[in-house]
Amino acid sequence: MKVTIIGGGGRVGSCAAFALQCAGLVPEIAILDANRDLAEGEALDLVHGSAFAGDQRIYASDYARAADSDLFLITAGLRRKPDESRLDLINRNVTLFVQILDSIKAAGLRPGAHIFVVSNPVDILTQLAVARLGLPWNQVYGLGTMLDSSRFSSLIAAELKLPASQVKALILGEHGDSMVPIWSSAAINGLPLAGLPECGPAFQGTIFERTKGSGAEVIKRKGGAGWAVAIAIRDVIHSVLLDKKQLLPVSSLVNGAYEIQNTCLSVPTIMSRKGVESHVELKLWPRELMGLQQSARALQDTLRKVKA
Ligand code: 2OP
Repeated sequence: MKVTIIGGGGRVGSCAAFALQCAGLVPEIAILDANRDLAEGEALDLVHGSAFAGDQRIYASDYARAADSDLFLITAGLRRKPDESRLDLINRNVTLFVQILDSIKAAGLRPGAHIFVVSNPVDILTQLAVARLGLPWNQVYGLGTMLDSSRFSSLIAAELKLPASQVKALILGEHGDSMVPIWSSAAINGLPLAGLPECGPAFQGTIFERTKGSGAEVIKRKGGAGWAVAIAIRDVIHSVLLDKKQLLPVSSLVNGAYEIQNTCLSVPTIMSRKGVESHVELKLWPRELMGLQQSARALQDTLRKVKA
Protein backbone atom coordinates (compact mmCIF):
# COMPACT_ATOMS: atom_id res chain seq x y z
CA MET A 1 0.00 0.00 0.00
CA LYS A 2 1.32 3.45 -0.95
CA VAL A 3 0.08 6.24 1.30
CA THR A 4 0.57 9.86 0.24
CA ILE A 5 0.14 12.33 3.08
CA ILE A 6 -1.03 15.69 1.74
CA GLY A 7 -0.04 18.20 4.40
CA GLY A 8 2.74 15.87 5.52
CA GLY A 9 4.88 18.82 6.51
CA GLY A 10 2.40 19.84 9.18
CA ARG A 11 2.03 18.58 12.73
CA VAL A 12 -0.80 16.08 12.10
CA GLY A 13 0.65 14.80 8.82
CA SER A 14 4.18 14.34 10.15
CA CYS A 15 2.94 12.64 13.34
CA ALA A 16 0.83 10.32 11.17
CA ALA A 17 3.89 9.49 9.05
CA PHE A 18 5.84 8.70 12.23
CA ALA A 19 3.04 6.51 13.61
CA LEU A 20 2.90 4.56 10.35
CA GLN A 21 6.70 4.22 10.33
CA CYS A 22 6.78 2.95 13.94
CA ALA A 23 4.05 0.41 13.15
CA GLY A 24 6.09 -0.80 10.18
CA LEU A 25 3.13 -2.06 8.12
CA VAL A 26 2.61 0.53 5.37
CA PRO A 27 5.49 -0.12 2.92
CA GLU A 28 5.48 3.29 1.17
CA ILE A 29 4.90 6.68 2.76
CA ALA A 30 5.07 9.80 0.57
CA ILE A 31 5.16 13.23 2.17
CA LEU A 32 3.51 15.96 0.10
CA ASP A 33 3.25 19.56 1.25
CA ALA A 34 2.84 23.03 -0.27
CA ASN A 35 6.07 23.78 1.55
CA ARG A 36 8.37 21.43 -0.39
CA ASP A 37 11.32 22.15 1.90
CA LEU A 38 9.28 21.07 4.90
CA ALA A 39 8.16 17.88 3.14
CA GLU A 40 11.77 17.06 2.33
CA GLY A 41 12.83 17.85 5.87
CA GLU A 42 10.19 15.59 7.41
CA ALA A 43 10.97 12.78 4.95
CA LEU A 44 14.69 13.10 5.69
CA ASP A 45 14.14 13.07 9.44
CA LEU A 46 12.02 9.90 9.13
CA VAL A 47 14.50 8.21 6.78
CA HIS A 48 17.28 8.89 9.30
CA GLY A 49 15.48 6.54 11.67
CA SER A 50 14.81 3.80 9.12
CA ALA A 51 17.93 1.78 10.01
CA PHE A 52 16.25 1.03 13.37
CA ALA A 53 12.57 1.57 12.45
CA GLY A 54 12.29 -0.61 9.37
CA ASP A 55 12.54 -0.81 5.59
CA GLN A 56 9.66 1.35 4.40
CA ARG A 57 10.13 3.68 1.46
CA ILE A 58 9.71 7.24 2.74
CA TYR A 59 10.25 10.29 0.56
CA ALA A 60 9.03 13.78 -0.31
CA SER A 61 6.56 13.76 -3.17
CA ASP A 62 4.45 15.88 -5.48
CA TYR A 63 1.07 15.39 -7.13
CA ALA A 64 2.50 13.85 -10.31
CA ARG A 65 4.43 11.24 -8.33
CA ALA A 66 1.41 10.66 -6.06
CA ALA A 67 -0.87 9.59 -8.93
CA ASP A 68 -0.40 5.87 -8.20
CA SER A 69 -1.17 6.18 -4.48
CA ASP A 70 -3.49 3.62 -2.95
CA LEU A 71 -4.55 6.04 -0.25
CA PHE A 72 -4.41 9.84 -0.08
CA LEU A 73 -4.36 11.03 3.54
CA ILE A 74 -5.37 14.70 3.59
CA THR A 75 -4.27 16.50 6.75
CA ALA A 76 -3.55 19.94 5.25
CA GLY A 77 -5.51 22.80 6.69
CA LEU A 78 -5.47 25.85 8.90
CA ARG A 79 -5.78 25.06 12.57
CA ARG A 80 -8.73 26.14 14.65
CA LYS A 81 -8.18 28.97 17.14
CA PRO A 82 -8.89 27.85 20.74
CA ASP A 83 -12.21 29.74 20.92
CA GLU A 84 -13.24 28.81 17.38
CA SER A 85 -15.53 25.85 16.61
CA ARG A 86 -14.47 23.49 13.87
CA LEU A 87 -17.30 24.58 11.65
CA ASP A 88 -16.03 28.19 11.88
CA LEU A 89 -13.02 26.90 10.05
CA ILE A 90 -15.14 25.87 7.16
CA ASN A 91 -14.71 28.53 4.53
CA ARG A 92 -11.06 29.07 5.35
CA ASN A 93 -10.39 25.44 4.75
CA VAL A 94 -12.88 24.69 1.97
CA THR A 95 -10.98 26.80 -0.55
CA LEU A 96 -7.72 25.08 0.29
CA PHE A 97 -9.34 21.63 0.33
CA VAL A 98 -11.00 22.05 -3.08
CA GLN A 99 -7.63 23.06 -4.54
CA ILE A 100 -6.14 19.85 -3.12
CA LEU A 101 -8.92 17.70 -4.56
CA ASP A 102 -8.53 19.35 -7.95
CA SER A 103 -4.74 18.80 -7.87
CA ILE A 104 -5.27 15.11 -7.06
CA LYS A 105 -7.77 14.83 -9.90
CA ALA A 106 -5.57 16.72 -12.38
CA ALA A 107 -2.59 14.46 -11.70
CA GLY A 108 -4.81 11.42 -12.08
CA LEU A 109 -5.80 8.89 -9.47
CA ARG A 110 -6.38 5.17 -9.65
CA PRO A 111 -10.02 3.96 -9.78
CA GLY A 112 -9.39 2.00 -6.59
CA ALA A 113 -7.71 4.85 -4.71
CA HIS A 114 -9.01 5.85 -1.30
CA ILE A 115 -9.34 9.39 0.05
CA PHE A 116 -8.94 9.62 3.83
CA VAL A 117 -9.76 13.10 5.13
CA VAL A 118 -8.48 14.46 8.46
CA SER A 119 -8.59 18.22 7.75
CA ASN A 120 -11.36 20.06 9.56
CA PRO A 121 -14.28 20.36 9.50
CA VAL A 122 -13.73 16.75 8.58
CA ASP A 123 -17.37 15.71 7.99
CA ILE A 124 -18.07 18.60 5.64
CA LEU A 125 -14.81 18.14 3.75
CA THR A 126 -15.42 14.40 3.44
CA GLN A 127 -18.79 15.12 1.88
CA LEU A 128 -17.17 17.58 -0.55
CA ALA A 129 -14.62 14.95 -1.51
CA VAL A 130 -17.37 12.39 -2.19
CA ALA A 131 -19.15 14.88 -4.44
CA ARG A 132 -16.10 16.23 -6.25
CA LEU A 133 -13.84 13.28 -7.01
CA GLY A 134 -16.27 10.85 -8.59
CA LEU A 135 -14.88 7.88 -6.67
CA PRO A 136 -17.30 5.29 -5.23
CA TRP A 137 -18.64 6.79 -2.00
CA ASN A 138 -17.18 3.98 0.11
CA GLN A 139 -13.62 4.82 -0.98
CA VAL A 140 -13.90 8.27 0.61
CA TYR A 141 -13.96 8.55 4.39
CA GLY A 142 -12.90 10.84 7.20
CA LEU A 143 -11.31 10.42 10.62
CA GLY A 144 -14.66 11.49 12.07
CA THR A 145 -14.99 10.81 15.78
CA MET A 146 -12.13 8.29 15.98
CA LEU A 147 -10.00 10.78 17.93
CA ASP A 148 -12.97 11.80 20.09
CA SER A 149 -13.67 8.14 20.89
CA SER A 150 -10.02 7.64 21.83
CA ARG A 151 -10.11 10.70 24.09
CA PHE A 152 -13.45 9.63 25.58
CA SER A 153 -12.17 6.10 26.38
CA SER A 154 -8.82 7.38 27.68
CA LEU A 155 -10.42 9.97 29.97
CA ILE A 156 -12.84 7.37 31.39
CA ALA A 157 -9.93 5.03 32.05
CA ALA A 158 -7.87 7.75 33.72
CA GLU A 159 -10.78 8.79 35.95
CA LEU A 160 -11.57 5.20 36.98
CA LYS A 161 -7.88 4.26 37.23
CA LEU A 162 -8.29 1.45 34.70
CA PRO A 163 -6.10 0.30 31.79
CA ALA A 164 -7.11 2.50 28.83
CA SER A 165 -6.83 -0.48 26.47
CA GLN A 166 -9.75 -2.12 28.31
CA VAL A 167 -12.14 0.81 27.97
CA LYS A 168 -14.22 0.95 24.79
CA ALA A 169 -16.53 3.95 24.54
CA LEU A 170 -17.81 5.54 21.34
CA ILE A 171 -18.47 9.11 20.32
CA LEU A 172 -20.66 9.31 17.18
CA GLY A 173 -22.00 12.03 14.91
CA GLU A 174 -20.07 15.17 14.01
CA HIS A 175 -16.43 15.61 14.86
CA GLY A 176 -17.39 18.87 16.44
CA ASP A 177 -19.81 20.64 18.72
CA SER A 178 -22.76 18.27 18.13
CA MET A 179 -20.83 15.02 18.79
CA VAL A 180 -22.77 12.41 20.81
CA PRO A 181 -21.45 10.27 23.71
CA ILE A 182 -22.66 6.66 23.47
CA TRP A 183 -22.84 5.54 27.09
CA SER A 184 -25.24 2.70 26.23
CA SER A 185 -22.46 0.56 24.76
CA ALA A 186 -19.51 1.88 26.82
CA ALA A 187 -17.73 -1.07 28.42
CA ILE A 188 -14.74 -2.00 30.52
CA ASN A 189 -13.39 -5.31 29.26
CA GLY A 190 -16.92 -6.13 28.06
CA LEU A 191 -18.66 -5.09 31.30
CA PRO A 192 -21.27 -2.36 30.78
CA LEU A 193 -20.00 0.88 32.26
CA ALA A 194 -23.44 2.45 32.61
CA GLY A 195 -24.27 0.05 35.43
CA LEU A 196 -21.35 1.08 37.64
CA PRO A 197 -22.36 3.30 40.61
CA GLU A 198 -19.37 5.60 40.12
CA CYS A 199 -20.45 6.27 36.51
CA GLY A 200 -23.61 8.22 37.25
CA PRO A 201 -24.92 11.34 35.43
CA ALA A 202 -22.39 13.68 37.07
CA PHE A 203 -19.46 11.47 36.02
CA GLN A 204 -20.89 11.12 32.52
CA GLY A 205 -21.41 14.86 32.16
CA THR A 206 -17.90 15.73 33.32
CA ILE A 207 -16.18 13.18 31.11
CA PHE A 208 -18.16 14.17 28.02
CA GLU A 209 -17.54 17.89 28.49
CA ARG A 210 -13.81 17.22 28.85
CA THR A 211 -13.87 15.01 25.74
CA LYS A 212 -15.69 17.64 23.71
CA GLY A 213 -13.28 20.33 24.86
CA SER A 214 -10.14 18.27 24.34
CA GLY A 215 -9.37 19.61 20.89
CA ALA A 216 -9.49 23.22 22.05
CA GLU A 217 -7.55 22.33 25.21
CA VAL A 218 -4.70 20.79 23.21
CA ILE A 219 -4.70 23.74 20.79
CA LYS A 220 -4.49 26.20 23.69
CA ARG A 221 -1.62 24.33 25.35
CA LYS A 222 0.51 23.18 22.41
CA GLY A 223 -1.02 24.67 19.29
CA GLY A 224 -2.76 21.55 18.01
CA ALA A 225 -3.16 17.79 18.23
CA GLY A 226 -0.51 15.45 16.86
CA TRP A 227 0.14 12.22 18.73
CA ALA A 228 -3.36 10.91 19.51
CA VAL A 229 -4.73 11.93 16.13
CA ALA A 230 -1.83 10.07 14.49
CA ILE A 231 -2.70 6.88 16.39
CA ALA A 232 -6.32 7.20 15.30
CA ILE A 233 -5.21 7.68 11.68
CA ARG A 234 -2.90 4.67 11.96
CA ASP A 235 -5.73 2.41 13.15
CA VAL A 236 -8.04 3.35 10.26
CA ILE A 237 -5.28 2.81 7.68
CA HIS A 238 -4.35 -0.55 9.21
CA SER A 239 -7.97 -1.72 9.16
CA VAL A 240 -7.96 -1.02 5.41
CA LEU A 241 -4.45 -2.35 4.75
CA LEU A 242 -5.03 -5.62 6.62
CA ASP A 243 -8.70 -5.96 5.64
CA LYS A 244 -9.44 -6.18 9.37
CA LYS A 245 -13.16 -5.31 9.05
CA GLN A 246 -12.98 -3.40 12.34
CA LEU A 247 -16.02 -1.50 13.57
CA LEU A 248 -14.76 2.08 13.80
CA PRO A 249 -16.46 5.48 14.23
CA VAL A 250 -15.19 6.95 10.99
CA SER A 251 -17.02 9.55 8.90
CA SER A 252 -18.57 8.47 5.59
CA LEU A 253 -21.65 9.11 3.51
CA VAL A 254 -24.63 7.77 5.45
CA ASN A 255 -27.78 6.96 3.51
CA GLY A 256 -30.30 5.13 5.65
CA ALA A 257 -28.59 4.22 8.92
CA TYR A 258 -30.48 5.79 11.85
CA GLU A 259 -32.84 7.33 9.25
CA ILE A 260 -30.05 9.72 8.22
CA GLN A 261 -29.79 10.57 4.53
CA ASN A 262 -26.97 11.95 2.40
CA THR A 263 -24.77 13.16 5.26
CA CYS A 264 -21.16 12.41 6.11
CA LEU A 265 -20.77 11.80 9.85
CA SER A 266 -19.59 9.01 12.15
CA VAL A 267 -21.75 5.98 12.71
CA PRO A 268 -20.41 2.49 13.58
CA THR A 269 -18.63 1.50 10.35
CA ILE A 270 -16.90 -1.67 9.17
CA MET A 271 -13.55 -0.70 7.61
CA SER A 272 -11.91 -3.14 5.20
CA ARG A 273 -9.77 -3.29 2.05
CA LYS A 274 -12.80 -1.83 0.21
CA GLY A 275 -12.81 1.22 2.51
CA VAL A 276 -16.26 1.52 4.07
CA GLU A 277 -17.69 -1.98 3.92
CA SER A 278 -20.92 -1.28 5.78
CA HIS A 279 -22.64 0.79 8.46
CA VAL A 280 -23.84 -1.05 11.55
CA GLU A 281 -26.93 0.31 13.29
CA LEU A 282 -25.98 -0.52 16.86
CA LYS A 283 -28.99 -0.10 19.16
CA LEU A 284 -28.83 3.30 20.87
CA TRP A 285 -30.71 4.83 23.80
CA PRO A 286 -33.49 7.17 22.56
CA ARG A 287 -31.57 10.29 23.62
CA GLU A 288 -28.48 9.04 21.78
CA LEU A 289 -30.45 8.45 18.58
CA MET A 290 -31.98 11.93 18.86
CA GLY A 291 -28.51 13.41 19.38
CA LEU A 292 -27.16 11.61 16.33
CA GLN A 293 -30.02 12.80 14.13
CA GLN A 294 -29.58 16.33 15.49
CA SER A 295 -25.89 16.13 14.63
CA ALA A 296 -26.80 15.17 11.06
CA ARG A 297 -29.14 18.16 10.83
CA ALA A 298 -26.42 20.51 12.13
CA LEU A 299 -24.06 19.25 9.44
CA GLN A 300 -26.73 19.54 6.71
CA ASP A 301 -27.36 23.17 7.79
CA THR A 302 -23.67 23.94 7.51
CA LEU A 303 -23.32 22.15 4.21
CA ARG A 304 -25.99 24.43 2.78
CA LYS A 305 -23.79 27.46 3.65
CA VAL A 306 -20.64 26.07 2.09
CA LYS A 307 -19.32 28.05 -0.86
CA ALA A 308 -17.58 25.21 -2.70
C1 2OP B 1 -8.81 17.69 17.26
O1 2OP B 1 -7.84 18.01 17.92
C2 2OP B 1 -7.37 17.72 15.22
O2 2OP B 1 -9.74 18.20 15.14
C3 2OP B 1 -8.70 17.49 15.77
O3 2OP B 1 -9.94 17.47 17.72
